[in-house]
Order: sequence, then C-alpha cells, then structure tokens
Amino acid sequence: MSTSRREFLLASSSLITASSIIGAPIFAQTGNGSQEHKLPELPYAYDALEPYIDARTMELHHSKHHAAYVKGLNTAEKALEEARAKNDFALVQHWSKQAAFHGGGHFLHSMFWKIMAPPNNGGGGKPSGELLELIERDFGSFDAFQNHFTAAANAVEGGGWALLHYRPADGKLIVLQAENQHKLSPWGVFPVLGVDVWEHAYYLKYQNNRGEYVKAWWNVVNWEQVEKNVKALKGVAL
Ligand SMILES: [Fe+2]
Repeated sequence: MSTSRREFLLASSSLITASSIIGAPIFAQTGNGSQEHKLPELPYAYDALEPYIDARTMELHHSKHHAAYVKGLNTAEKALEEARAKNDFALVQHWSKQAAFHGGGHFLHSMFWKIMAPPNNGGGGKPSGELLELIERDFGSFDAFQNHFTAAANAVEGGGWALLHYRPADGKLIVLQAENQHKLSPWGVFPVLGVDVWEHAYYLKYQNNRGEYVKAWWNVVNWEQVEKNVKALKGVAL
C-alpha cells in the first residue's frame, strides 16, 4: 500500500472514530462544498442532571459557552481559508491558536454531554464488564482510578479538564489533565471521559468549591457511553 493511501485510511478511521465518540456528526454540509461545525443538541433536558448539575448552569454552558467554541472554530478555519486564498499568512499564528483552542472546546464539550446521563437513569454507579476490567488492570482498582481522576480534576490550574484517555498504541487507559481545552495531553491519546472544571461548569451552584462539584459529578457519569468510546478506539492503528 502506498504511503499516501495508508495515510488517507488512517485519517479516515480517526475521523470516523472521533465522530462516533461525540455522537452527532461534527460536520454539516453547508451546500457549497465547505463544511462548518454545528452545536450538537443535548441528549437530555437542561434539568435532567439535577440535583448534581443545575439546569441554569447546563443551559448557559451548552447554549453560550459551547456555542462560542463552535463559532470560534468556524471563524478560525474561515480565516485560515481566506489566508490561503490571499496567500497572506501574517496572522497564521493567531488563527492557528484560535483553531486549537476552540476546536478543543468543541470536541471536549461534545464528548462531555454524551458521557453524562440523568442520575439513576444511566448516570452514576460504577462501570462493569470490560471497562471495569480495563480500569482495574491499568489503575489497580476502581477506587484508585477515581481518586487519581478526582485529584487531577481538583488540581487543574485555572480552567481545564481532567481526562481519561485511551492510548491505542498499547491499549492503555491513562489519566491526564488539560489546561484550557487543549494543553497538557500528548499526541496519540483520545479522551473517553472528561470532567470540565472551568468555573462556568459549576460556579452558579458550587461557587468556588470545585471539589464538591467534582464529587457530585460522579453521580451523573454515563459509564455505558465511556465503554462505547473505548470500544470505538480499539483497533485504530496509530
Ligand atoms: Fe465548559
């Protein structure tokens, strides 16, 4: 197989995998051959995660913050498209950073909505089956994983995330942090679970008490979706 053919297939499988992780299509045809990113609908009502995450926070988080990342990503990609058309790359550094920041925000928030579910209706409890086995293999126990992940979330400097990644190269699960939406994770890993610890995710209900928010958040984790995310990544050649 030629190098270009192999690269194309790898890129295609990664795109398919990314789409399956965040669920709804991340691209929508605009009709003129270009593509733009769209805000996905939530898979539940704004008040569905009460009492752990309040409806007003969910509404603002989704309809304002996530929407801003979608808009920012479209703006950055459009600006880079125009730069190519004009062969004017004076602002390439600015727009490249904007594309990474807003692109990270769009992807992580799209995943975030999917890996949560109403408490006692898909959310909360503990993982089971194959996912539990993987967690126990890579972290020693579910409690050790949960303690590690919680500590990572509580210790993020400023706005960011704690992320559980799957690393296809060796099939391992690893916990890392992200500052902002896109810093501190290496190449070759894919988030399968994450908690948003930007203040916009919890300030209305929990004020400055991030620890209480993270503790409550475990009650809405959709483990079934996390397991689907891991399975979607198995077999990806990287
Ligand atoms: Fe957020």
